[in-house]
Amino acid sequence: MKLSRTVLSAVVLGVSASLGACASGGAAAAGPATGAPAAMTSSPERVAEGQTVFASACAGCHGANAQGGRAPNLADATWVGVASKDDHAGIFRIIKEGVPGRMPAMGGRQLTDDQIHALTFYIQSL
Ligand code: HEC
Repeated sequence: MKLSRTVLSAVVLGVSASLGACASGGAAAAGPATGAPAAMTSSPERVAEGQTVFASACAGCHGANAQGGRAPNLADATWVGVASKDDHAGIFRIIKEGVPGRMPAMGGRQLTDDQIHALTFYIQSL
């Protein structure tokens, strides 16, 4: 009994501490659009966002400007995994799921869907 009281008060303390943190961080939490839906149309901002992610996650294989390296050129008109560069869903799927044995899947913990859409807009802009 004594033990569970201690545990209970620890939990109550924990909850009120996090509530306090929430209240004080309320204004800041409204700032970054973490829960906002992905912008599903291309724009210079989305392309720039994709280019930034590309530099860190993809350039090692596909080249700094997607011109190719260990992995295929993504800036030319030759596509192996999708019918054409207009196939947003197809490019999105390749990035998210990867190509078994050839390219690692980038979905899940690696990149968010929002980042993968931005990458797709970047590739389509090349
Ligand atoms: C470990 C190396 C590696 C990394 C990292 C990598 N790729 Fe790839 N990628 C490949 C290879 C290899 C292929 C060719 C697969 C095949 O032969 O079908 C490929 C294919 C592709 C294709 C299809 C090309 C086509 O012609 O249809 C796209 C799109 C693509 N990658 C985008 C990306 C993006 C965007 C990233 C970063 C998020 C990325 N890749 C990271 C190795 C990589």
